[in-house]
Amino acid sequence: MTHEDTFPIRKVDHVRHYVNNARQAAFFYQHTFGFHITGYYGLETGSKDECGYVLEQNDLKLVFSAPLRPGHPMAGLIAQHGDFVQDICFEVDDVDWAYKAALERGAQGSRAPFDLSDENGTVRMASIKIYGDVVHTLMNRDNFKGHFLPGFREMNEPGDPIGLIEIDHCVGNVELGQMNVWVKWYEDVLGFKNLISFDDNDISTEFTSLMSKVMASGNGRVKFPINEPAPGKKKSQIDEYLEFFGGAGVQHVAMRTDDIIHTVSRLQARGIKFLSVPRSYYDILTDRVGEIDEDINVLAELGILVDRDDEGYLLQIFTKPITDRPTLFYEIIHRKGAKSFGKGNFKALFESIEREQELRGTL
Ligand code: FE2
Repeated sequence: MTHEDTFPIRKVDHVRHYVNNARQAAFFYQHTFGFHITGYYGLETGSKDECGYVLEQNDLKLVFSAPLRPGHPMAGLIAQHGDFVQDICFEVDDVDWAYKAALERGAQGSRAPFDLSDENGTVRMASIKIYGDVVHTLMNRDNFKGHFLPGFREMNEPGDPIGLIEIDHCVGNVELGQMNVWVKWYEDVLGFKNLISFDDNDISTEFTSLMSKVMASGNGRVKFPINEPAPGKKKSQIDEYLEFFGGAGVQHVAMRTDDIIHTVSRLQARGIKFLSVPRSYYDILTDRVGEIDEDINVLAELGILVDRDDEGYLLQIFTKPITDRPTLFYEIIHRKGAKSFGKGNFKALFESIEREQELRGTL
């Protein structure tokens, strides 16, 4: 369902991480998630202060950038947060209009509109701040004939893809009391609408709970759930994130596949670790979600979760944190009609996360 679009966004173009070592990060994502490394910038291309790689798989684009010198503005932020998602970049029709409109509606600018050019043309860009140290870059490459962005040298280091298609949603964790502040920001500035809300009755276990609201863009294509901790008997996963990350930031990025059994089998074979749920989850699965196409034994073997809503069902699974700190993780999601986010799995999932927190001594 869509509503009047007061801030047209074509799509999420890419997600940029700032990391300590972009070469190793690129290698990791190439050899686990199967991305192709398709572009590079660095000393050899005339970039004196930072380097980076662009990785692609179907419509998914990730950029990993790293400072090359001490004193680089990102070096301090990486020291604070660890490797982190710094930019969720939108492709828009008109960067200058979008930046001006965002500021008029209350956004804080991070970088005013500027041109990035090379022999292939010009890309117009600007950035606005969101929670923590994250920005939304607004970008238009209609006048650019090159591969990704000016300054990137095309590379051809293929990965072995596993069927990842596009970004389904990106989730932010914000401090207690800040969820509604950011919900209002997305409504006021980017014209998003609150699609679904979960309170602590939906998302709580015996020990911990959280609150979440899902925001969707005018065309419905961009979805950003925002979480905040809710008071519980013990420390919630959101509190753990905020403590180890050093503030608000991106908690997980969900990548969509059309064959989750294939995708997850390959990821597990390549060493990616996922949250697991007890076998009893699968004993009552058919009672909860009805008939599904997949073999439940195979789903149980892989630890894939299932949920149903009015429009269909979805299959999903969550990696353990992919950094040393218990911060960023990934979701693999396969939608078979369902447009929701797996509410029926929240309890089983959070109990699984709590078992991990227990091991980390952070519950
Ligand atoms: Fe998610």
